[in-house]
Amino acid sequence: MSYYSIAIDGPAGAGKSTIAKSLANKLGFIYVDTGAMYRAISLYFIRNNIDALDTKSIKEACKDIDITIEYKNGEQIVLLNKENVNSFIRTEAIGKMASTTSAYSDVRIKLLELQRNLAKTSNVIMDGRDIGTCVLPNANLKIYLTASVEERALRRYNELKTKNIECNLEQIMKDIEDRDYADMNRDMSPLKQSEDAILIDSSTMTIYEVVDKIIELTTF
Ligand code: DC
Repeated sequence: MSYYSIAIDGPAGAGKSTIAKSLANKLGFIYVDTGAMYRAISLYFIRNNIDALDTKSIKEACKDIDITIEYKNGEQIVLLNKENVNSFIRTEAIGKMASTTSAYSDVRIKLLELQRNLAKTSNVIMDGRDIGTCVLPNANLKIYLTASVEERALRRYNELKTKNIECNLEQIMKDIEDRDYADMNRDMSPLKQSEDAILIDSSTMTIYEVVDKIIELTTF
């Protein structure tokens, strides 16, 4: 039996995970957050004081890292060497580490098979940077979801303010631009729109509008 797969790629802060979660709920698919896997590996590097630029140590450490995925009440749980690390991986420091270390082949190869296997056993909505171009080149539907840097920064700013976290809009915008540059300009699996992906710019759209548009595009 073959399963239906929806690939959603795009830059940081475009709303991929919010949209993908909502779609997964509506369609009864599982949501695969590949960024969380890169973040879990980065947590291992940070905990073990491994520098993001120390490729030799990173290669060695990859041998000691085991990443697996479980689902509890529809939520993806990332297990790093059997430990649930979901509550540790959402920090800015981990995001930065993930952006740098996800450029290395040792790191990417570790996760590729896990990601492909998930799509072989379930209907999936998978989000990341290289899903349509590399992980699932035959996905049934490919979306490239983006939004202007200003809008993405503003969304992040509002999110942090709601949580009473002190932040600066200019700095957030700069961080987003740096992350975009790193993700789009690395040699291995850079972020880019797959030729057969449909572009959705969510700058002036609500979450509901984006979700409805993607549902309209499905072909089952
Ligand atoms: O989506 P996110 O912010 O959780 O992703 C963190 C970093 O992981 C991102 O900057 C680049 C990397 N990543 C990747 O290289 N490939 C993916 N499929 C998903 C994330």
